[in-house]
Parts: sequence; C-alpha cells; structure tokens
Amino acid sequence: MMSAPWTPDSWRARPISQVPAYPDPARLAAVEAKLRRYPPLVFAGEARRLKAALAQVADGRAFILQGGDCAESFGDFTANIIRDTFRVLLQMAVVLTFGASVPVVKMGRMAGQFAKPRSSDSETQDGETLPSYRGDIINGPEFTSEARIPDPARMETAYFQSAGTLNLLRAFATGGYADLHEVHRWNLGFIARSPMADRYRDLAARIDETLGFMAACGMTSATTPQIRETDFFTSHEALLLPYEQALTRVDSTTGDWYACSAHFLWIGDRTRQPDGAHVEFLRGVNNPIGLKVGPSTSADDLLRLIDALNPQDEPGRLTLISRMGADKVGRLLPPLLRAVRREGRRVLWLCDPMHGNTISTAARLKTRSFDAILAEVRGFFDAHAEEGTWAGGVHVEMTGRDVTECVGGAHRLTEADLARSYETFCDPRLNAEQSLELAFLVAEELKARRQPAHEMPAVAAQ
Ligand code: PEP
Ligand code: CO
Repeated sequence: MMSAPWTPDSWRARPISQVPAYPDPARLAAVEAKLRRYPPLVFAGEARRLKAALAQVADGRAFILQGGDCAESFGDFTANIIRDTFRVLLQMAVVLTFGASVPVVKMGRMAGQFAKPRSSDSETQDGETLPSYRGDIINGPEFTSEARIPDPARMETAYFQSAGTLNLLRAFATGGYADLHEVHRWNLGFIARSPMADRYRDLAARIDETLGFMAACGMTSATTPQIRETDFFTSHEALLLPYEQALTRVDSTTGDWYACSAHFLWIGDRTRQPDGAHVEFLRGVNNPIGLKVGPSTSADDLLRLIDALNPQDEPGRLTLISRMGADKVGRLLPPLLRAVRREGRRVLWLCDPMHGNTISTAARLKTRSFDAILAEVRGFFDAHAEEGTWAGGVHVEMTGRDVTECVGGAHRLTEADLARSYETFCDPRLNAEQSLELAFLVAEELKARRQPAHEMPAVAAQ
C-alpha cells in the first residue's frame, strides 16, 4: 500500500481528517508559495542530532522530557512567557538528570505548536453554532463567525512567531542562561514559597557542590560546554499539512527530505489512519517523528504504522507516545509493548499522561487531575517493568505561569480554584509548581527502577 513513491505533496491524494475548509484556494496557494521561499526554521543536521539522541533513549540510556502549551497562541508571544516555560522545562530536566542520574533529551512543544485537532467540527454557545477553533495558525478563538473562518495569512504569522520563539530558545540554551551554575538563579517566581521550591533549592545546593568538585578537577563552564549550554529541540503536531509541506526541503548534504518547521513532528491520535494523509506525509521526511497511541489502537494497526513510518527500523526515528488514560494504561499498554517487542522493532516509548485524563467540571471547564496524571505515569512505568522494556520519557502540557487549570498537586487546587487563572486556549496545563512536582515524582520512579549507574554507558550529562 505504501509502495507508491513519496513526494512532499503525495499526501494530497490520500483521505485527510481535521482539514480546515479555506474559503479562497487562491489565497491559500499564494501563502504556500511565499512560505516555500522563506528560510527553513531548523536545519537537517539538528534533526539528525536529535535522532541520534533519541536512539540513546531507545537503547535505555537516556530519558525524554517533552513539554509546553497544548496550543501556542498569537496573543501569548512575549519574552517572559517563552522564558518561563523554558525555565520550568530546564528545572524539570535538572531534577530528572540529577535526581535519577540519567541524561535528559529536552524538547519543547514550542515554536510551532499552533494547529489543533478537534473532536467536533462545530461549537454551540447560547444556541449559536459556529465552526470550532482549530488553533491560531488556522482561525481565531473568539466566538464570532468572522474569527472562525480559516485564514491562510495566519500561516505566515505562525511562521514568523515560530522564528522569534526559536531564536530566543536558542539564545537561552547556548548563550549562558542554561549554564548549570545558574541553577540557583533560575528564579522560582510565584512558587518561591512552595514545598517544591524548598526541594528544588536543596537539589540546586547539591548541584553547586558537585560543580565545585568538578571545577577542582578542572571541569568548568570554560572547559566543558555541557556545563555551559544545553541542546533544546522544538516539536509540534504536524497537523496542518499545507504549512508543513511548504517548509519541507531537501538537505543539501545528504539529498534527503526534511520537514524544517521543527526538529520533531508527531501525528495526533485523530489523524493516524494508516492510509491517511498525515501518515503519508510524515513517512517521507527524515526527521525523528512521533505517533500518538490512544486507547483505540490495535496491535495490528500499530505494527502496520511502524512498518509505514520506520521501514528501515532506524533507531531514534520513531517515538510512540502512549496516551491511554490512568484507568486504561495497565490493561491496554502491555499488549502493545509485547507486540512491538515480539516483532523486534526499535521504537521508543513516551508517556503522555494528559490526553487520556481530560474531564469536564460542573462549570463545563476542561480539567485534569494531578492524581490521574501521576497514576498514568506510574501505570506506564509498571507496564514497561512488566514487559522488560524501557519507559523512555514523559510528554506534558505545561506552562511556566501560575495558572489554575489542572486540579490537585501540592497546593490541592480544587474545581472551585480553577476560575482564578484559567487561561489555556485549548487543554488544561500543569502550572510551574505542578510541573516540578511531577518531575520529582518521575525522578523517584526512574531512580527506583533504573539499572545501577555503573552499568549505564556514559553519555553527555546535560
Ligand atoms: C495534543 O497533544 O495536543 C493532542 C491533541 O493529543 P492527541 O492527538 O493525543 O489527542
Ligand atoms: Co492538548
């Protein structure tokens, strides 16, 4: 079925889900033509570097932390918002690296996470029905008929915003902000007085002590780049294929095709039909890619998708992102792990404990319980322990801001608290404190279950 030759536009001949109905095809074509001439946002060498890092995870030698907004928005494009999310991801990574002595690959759902699949094509409020909001790259969140019309010009705005965000992320990652000597100064902001802040400060003090020891042995920021800077990669769901196609380029050094809108792209749970457009598009680009694996995935489907997406069984190429729900992971994940292992396929498994645990409050707000999120992470680790496979990492929707979108956590947020600061444009996110708490708990799980440190081959620390 997949034997027809791949081209950047071969997806156009396949059935497609979640596609916006642009009213003016000529305007759409004009924007696509413009984007095709713009510089790529990432370069193929970086995607290859990420793939090599993910191959280490597939081998059980590293862990992935992937996190960020459910949906980025044009309104939230400020240095502080980008910095706060980056900082919390860095803090979580330090907790995992130091707490569990495992190298952590860091990926933001940032600099391009703008398009959203929706369970319904329309939304009704007070008797009025309008097309659903599909993310800022497609239409606007305001509940008006004008805002909900898909506008191709939004793709260009998304491109420039992604470029700006990526520029700042690169500066933070390599320009000194991420230096481990700054670990104390990554100001804890609003969580400064929480129990998580105390735990974090304690860890930072231990890191300082370790850095002092390393400096005495001759390893400083000047001599050891891993102390001074970090690799930080970008990722998003490859949902809006006209945009993705326009940013797909041939790498001049290898002659291979790469999607150049981000380092890592994934296929959502609603668009993973084996003969559908999204699978067709992503099978042909050489980036590392992800596939969401929800409760309706059969072992047969999964193996078929693995064949289509990673026919050469290349390590680091394919990340399966399990999002079953806390109550289902124990029953549904082990048979899939077994089927993939039985076929000897080299994939890595990541846990998204968010999307299977979304509930609606009495006030009709979407929320998630911190306890359910935690229970899914534990169920994920248990399933891997049972099957003898490596639990490769976590994928979370989070923000560095003091939002109240998920219930529970150290501050025991209740449904009544949600109204205080509910800001998400799509799904409920962990706030900074809940994110750190999750990182401490995951570090404990990892430490308890991982092989002894002396059996782990040395890889870059940061
Ligand atoms: C998402 O990651 O925001 C998402 C929509 O996930 P899923 O495809 O797993 O539902
Ligand atoms: Co989401």
